[in-house]
Amino acid sequence: MNVLFATAEFTPVVRVGGLAEAAAGLVRALRSSGVDVEVVLPDYGGVELSGQTEVHVEVPEWVGDVRVRRGAHPSVGDLTLVHVPGMDRPHPYVDAHGEGWADNDHRFMGFAAVVAALAASTGPDVMHLNDWHTAAALGMTHAPVPTVLTIHTLGYQGVTHRGWLDHLGHDAHRFAWYDGTNPLAGAIELADRVIAVSPNYASEIVTPEAGMGLHDRLAALGERLVGIRNGIDTALWDPETDPHIAQNYSRIDLAGRDVCKNALVEIAGWEPAPIPTVGVVSRLVEQKGIDLLLHAFRFLHTMPGRLAVLGAGSADLAGALADAAAASPDQIWFFDGYDETLAHQIFAGSDLFVMPSRFEPCGLAQMQAMTYGSIPVVTDVGGLHDTVVDADTDRSYGTGFVTPTVDAVGLVDALHRGVRAVRHAGRRGAIQKRGMSADWSWEIPAAHHRDVYAEISR
Ligand code: ADP
Ligand code: GLC
Repeated sequence: MNVLFATAEFTPVVRVGGLAEAAAGLVRALRSSGVDVEVVLPDYGGVELSGQTEVHVEVPEWVGDVRVRRGAHPSVGDLTLVHVPGMDRPHPYVDAHGEGWADNDHRFMGFAAVVAALAASTGPDVMHLNDWHTAAALGMTHAPVPTVLTIHTLGYQGVTHRGWLDHLGHDAHRFAWYDGTNPLAGAIELADRVIAVSPNYASEIVTPEAGMGLHDRLAALGERLVGIRNGIDTALWDPETDPHIAQNYSRIDLAGRDVCKNALVEIAGWEPAPIPTVGVVSRLVEQKGIDLLLHAFRFLHTMPGRLAVLGAGSADLAGALADAAAASPDQIWFFDGYDETLAHQIFAGSDLFVMPSRFEPCGLAQMQAMTYGSIPVVTDVGGLHDTVVDADTDRSYGTGFVTPTVDAVGLVDALHRGVRAVRHAGRRGAIQKRGMSADWSWEIPAAHHRDVYAEISR
């Protein structure tokens, strides 16, 4: 089985959010099970490949000058990098002010055209596209290739002006969207299978509330829409071997975890005290509900807990977090930025990990938290619903605390319940161990992907 796998992000080459990690984790698991995967990424610049060769592709003239190079990347292995005009930028999607690059449509339409051309020239068994950045390839294919489209989020669809329909061949009408062009909408209709990144997200997105305007198209897919939960890359996320944390530990022996907890308290500049630490590691965007959390923390005086936040993204949310931390330095600590080491330290050193998402296609952070013995406090949406079991509702299988409502009141209640649980050593240990014992690896999800590939490539 060989698969052409196209994505705009891939850990550690380029990473903005979970897409990068999900793509890399899945590809690693597929390759180790014998699937031959060609990874195709935009060439944002600065990436060296060894044994590099140039690949010739035939693309329409509007794409402009294209350079495709294939070689070996020290962490990824075989990799194909695609340069089209304007692709090399310091950030894949946004400028220094957080605004999308004005030519994102041209950059990613060009990338999609090259993906289509590569599929035509190499003839894979399956073409696997991810999110809107790659979606338009389905309107540019020269010969039909069985195709899977994974939706990591419906929040971004790549909607642009109508003129692009002229470049989308005889299926252009599928991409027509009001008075514009919607790459994701077209690909949803044309793909042989659409994978949502968790079963619950697959059932949510066919409803008007979560479908972001695409619910009718998604509902029309019937069995062509499949939900497969993401995994986490257990080579990178393992408290027994993690080089970033103060001391390694395992679910059998959690002693090192106390060292990690003290280390986090020290990083935050707090006085040592027997108060639970609540961690957050998140992109700062509306989806993640950080504003709800700030609201909930106004009730902090009714609850013994301290909040350590690592986040990057919206300047408004970062400002609100910085203000809250300045006003209550003993209770809230905020680090503005993207920091891999600190992320690991927060998972290892927090008692509870909160993820108050308004929507969450899958979410990786709650699985990382459970792997590290930090008990998740989450909203009951998307993949959070599929991965966290409320420990008050289910005393035998509970792995965290779930608020049924997406609001500050529900969050305050779930946080209270969580804090109560972690102060009771026996209960805390039981909840922790269940989360740490679960299989969050990519092995099972990768097997589901292989089943989907087999179904459509027959
Ligand atoms: P999303 O993809 O919507 O951002 P996920 O939970 O699926 O959410 O994936 C986010 C990934 O990025 C996780 O691996 C998380 O640990 C990591 N992450 C998020 N924010 C930061 C940050 N500020 N610094 C370091 N890692 C982060
Ligand atoms: C998106 C979603 C997140 C998911 C990730 C990887 O960024 O927001 O929930 O885990 O993609 O699929």
